[in-house]
Amino acid sequence: MRVKYFILFIFLIAACGVERQYEDYRLQTTGDLILNQTNHKHGYGKGQCFMCHNVSNIHKVNTINAPNFDLAIPLVQQSGLSSCSGCHGTNGVP
Ligand code: HEC
Ligand code: HEC
Repeated sequence: MRVKYFILFIFLIAACGVERQYEDYRLQTTGDLILNQTNHKHGYGKGQCFMCHNVSNIHKVNTINAPNFDLAIPLVQQSGLSSCSGCHGTNGVP
């Protein structure tokens, strides 16, 4: 019985550790915003952005002082997935 509680406790601690925060890919310049095979190795060619990027964790901090940053949240809210290419290029999706 005790062991069960101990295991539960470990899972609770672990869950706290993986709480989602805002996404930070240490972008260097606004050039990084246009996705290509080099800067987007793991997502290039895939159109379902929200499979990997949580909409509430992106566009939180303007780390590179991008001039279009303020438009990102309203445009994503308005047009969803079809807004992304306007600022991030086609991502290799036809
Ligand atoms: C299969 C998962 C996956 C999908 C689908 C995906 N991404 Fe990503 N994305 C990543 C990962 C992982 C990174 C971190 C860079 C890397 O390792 O490829 C990233 C990084 C980024 C970055 C930061 C780019 C940089 O220069 O570091 C942007 C912007 C981005 N993704 C936008 C998008 C958009 C827009 C889409 C949909 C068209 C998309 N992603 C689809 C996994 C994904
Ligand atoms: C109006 C332009 C604009 C639109 C539209 C836009 N983005 Fe972004 N996005 C940005 C900018 C600017 C940044 C850089 C933020 C920073 O400095 O880290 C960014 C950064 C990102 C990042 C890296 C994490 C971050 O917050 O820095 C991801 C992932 C991303 N965008 C995904 C998307 C997806 C998915 C869509 C479509 C649903 C989308 N973006 C639509 C401008 C845009």
